[in-house]
Formats: sequence, structure tokens, C-alpha cells
Amino acid sequence: MNLTLDVHTLRPLISDYNRLADDSDWNRFGLLEKQEIDSSLLTQGQKEAVIFVTHIENHTPTYISDYLSRFPIDGGRELKHSIHNRELFHFIIRWGLEEDRHAEALALYQLAADIAPSTDKLLNDMIEESIKPFSIGFSEPVQVFTYTFLQEKATQLYYQCLSKAVSEPVLAHLLRQLAKDESRHFAFFSKILDAYLDAHGERAIDLILEVSLSYRMPLHNTLKDYRRRAILMSREAPGYHRKFPVGVLAEHLEHSAERHPQLSVPLHRASARMRAGMESPSPIASSLN
Ligand SMILES: [Fe+2]
Ligand SMILES: [Fe+2]
Repeated sequence: MNLTLDVHTLRPLISDYNRLADDSDWNRFGLLEKQEIDSSLLTQGQKEAVIFVTHIENHTPTYISDYLSRFPIDGGRELKHSIHNRELFHFIIRWGLEEDRHAEALALYQLAADIAPSTDKLLNDMIEESIKPFSIGFSEPVQVFTYTFLQEKATQLYYQCLSKAVSEPVLAHLLRQLAKDESRHFAFFSKILDAYLDAHGERAIDLILEVSLSYRMPLHNTLKDYRRRAILMSREAPGYHRKFPVGVLAEHLEHSAERHPQLSVPLHRASARMRAGMESPSPIASSLN
């Protein structure tokens, strides 16, 4: 099938993203230099949560490589695909920079707060996890974007909830900064899904639904001791719920029905399937643990 967006639809979405992004830079080093860290305020569970999310952020190189390979500039297809992918590159590379900064800021925090015993140990632990094979696992562009929509919402909510529970001020500040970035990422992917719904209607709905029914966080099948760590991680962030992103997607489709009355039936049918899936024990029920 391979549904795509017209470049005249895609380009303004990306320009809007980069316009905001260019104004929202922050210094990963400065953040840690401005204020003294009081690591006595960190609980063991919070330290584990920081290690866990560092691994999640640190899979940025493989995640971005996966995106770039799916949207090649020189794919040998029609010129319009190259033009589309060149536009998308403006987003991918900027977004990748931001995610990479998240990984590095968390790693720097681990060192400054003595969560990691040494730079060598930290770099080894991080690379061991991030070189494991990874694939987003969907071939349709709208499915790749849906997967990331869910993931951005999960990270945004997690950082928000964790920041409220943390009393160590530098970490709380860092987590709020990460949540702000994730919120901007999520907004971009929301607009992309809207554009797919506008352009492809019911065909896009079916593809979006398929992703939501099998959604798992990246690294769920590779990170050491993932299940136990994901449960502990959730406990550290009261208010966070692993099912929340799929609920947000269901709500998003319901709102889309207001813009597209002719799609109201399939949109509501899909959102009902998502909500039903959230109540069943699998696979969504285990999506974040
Ligand atoms: Fe991130
Ligand atoms: Fe993000």
C-alpha cells in the first residue's frame, strides 16, 4: 500500500516544528553546572529510574538510523519520494539531536550524582544495550509515525510524573526540560497523524489501529531484566500509567471525527477497539512492563 503525504502538506508541518525547535535549545552541560546536585535526596528507586530512561533515550542512534533507512533520499524510486524524504530529513535530524541530548544529559547526570561509578562503566553499560538489534517493525509510514506518537506520549507523561516525585532539584529540573521536549515531539506526530487521516481516511485508520493493538515500548525485548525494571520504573512516577498513550490515541481519533463527520463511524469503531484492548490482559496490558 505505502500511503504517503504530499510534500506541500508535509513541508509546513516540518517548518512549524523546526521554527519552535530552533527557539527551544538548552544546554545539557549548563543545566548541571548551574546548581549543586544533592544526591542524598535521591532514592534508590529514582536512581534506577534514571538508569532505565538513560537506556531508553540512548537507543537514539539505532532509532534514527531506522527512520533514515525507511525514508532514503536516494531510494531509486520516483523523484517525488526523494523530495518528500529530503523534507522529512529536516525533521528527523533535528529530532534526533534533541533525543541524543536527552541521552547525554541523563548520562551526565548519572556521573555528577554518582549514580554511575565511572565514565568507563557508564559508557560500557550504555553501549551494551544500544547495540542490540532494533526495528520499529512496521512498514507503512503512518504506522511508523503512530508508533512514535505513542512513545513520545509515554515519555512525556513519565518525565512529568517522575519530576513531581523527585525532590533533588537538578534532576527535577532536567526531567521537566525533557518533558517539554517530548511534548513538542508528541505535538508534531499528532499533526502528522491528522494529515494522514485528512489525506487517506479509512485506510489510515485501519493502519493506525493495527499499531495500537500491538504497541510495545522500544527495548522491551532486548533490555536486560526489562519487565521487572519497567514495573519498578512505573512505581517511581505516581500518576504514570502504561496504558495512557493508547487512551490518548483513542481520544485523538474521537476528536478527529469532529473534523471528519464522514469518517465518524470508522474512527469511533477504531477508538472503541483501542479502549477494549486497554482492558484486556494482552498485548496492550503489558505494553510498558
Ligand atoms: Fe527523549
Ligand atoms: Fe521524544
